[in-house]
Amino acid sequence: IEDDSDGVAAWVAGYVLKRITDFAPTAERPFVLGLPTGSSPLGTYKKLVEFHEAGKLSFANVVTFNMDEYVGIPEDHPESYHSFMWKHLFSKIDIKRENVHLLDGNAKDLAKECEDYEAKIESFGGIELFLGGIGPDGHIAFNEPGSSLASKTRIKTLAYDTIVANSRFFGGDLEKVPRMALTVGVGTVMAAREVLIIILGISKSIALAKCIEEGISHMWTVSAIQQHPCACIVCDEDATMEL
Ligand code: GLP
Repeated sequence: IEDDSDGVAAWVAGYVLKRITDFAPTAERPFVLGLPTGSSPLGTYKKLVEFHEAGKLSFANVVTFNMDEYVGIPEDHPESYHSFMWKHLFSKIDIKRENVHLLDGNAKDLAKECEDYEAKIESFGGIELFLGGIGPDGHIAFNEPGSSLASKTRIKTLAYDTIVANSRFFGGDLEKVPRMALTVGVGTVMAAREVLIIILGISKSIALAKCIEEGISHMWTVSAIQQHPCACIVCDEDATMEL
């Protein structure tokens, strides 16, 4: 628990720096990092860019897999997760384009796109560290309430609560929020060797309490990490309101 979002960003970015540095990745043995979008990781990305600019951190041998992407909006739409990631992180660091992986929400065959994504993760030997955020309904990636806790990458219909929560990025217009997304599954996150979830703000306080003080439930999908051998939540004081 950190005092505020700046404290969380500093802690998480510092941790990522340490993990990558200790791992000492090479082209043959890259560090495989899972990444979220949303406002929660923004401060962390800013700090990672600062570390890179200060010469403390290179992403030359880092491979990334993003958690999710909307279906049916163009890749260059300002609110696509492709645009988000390039804007806030990838364009500002020395990552190689071929090492960046994002689901294609416009693929002709969406089911195949999801299968191929899982195979790609496997081909890199799995994800070393998966960073994540959660929705106010406790979803991780786009694993909405009711998702199987064993789920792998697939297409999901967004819950009404998520459409409302994410409408702030679409000018507050519910109609403009995509109805579907491609998302890694809860099982995909659980298969990572380490999971680190960033939880900020009072709007996430009920979800945080459900996640760590109640049992594991597919209605609060982030609660699955209770069974992960190496998982950690980094949150601000506001998010702890219901604990
Ligand atoms: C979306 C994403 C999630 C993310 C959530 C929270 O629903 N699919 O991966 O965790 O937003 O976003 P924010 O951090 O902006 O609250």
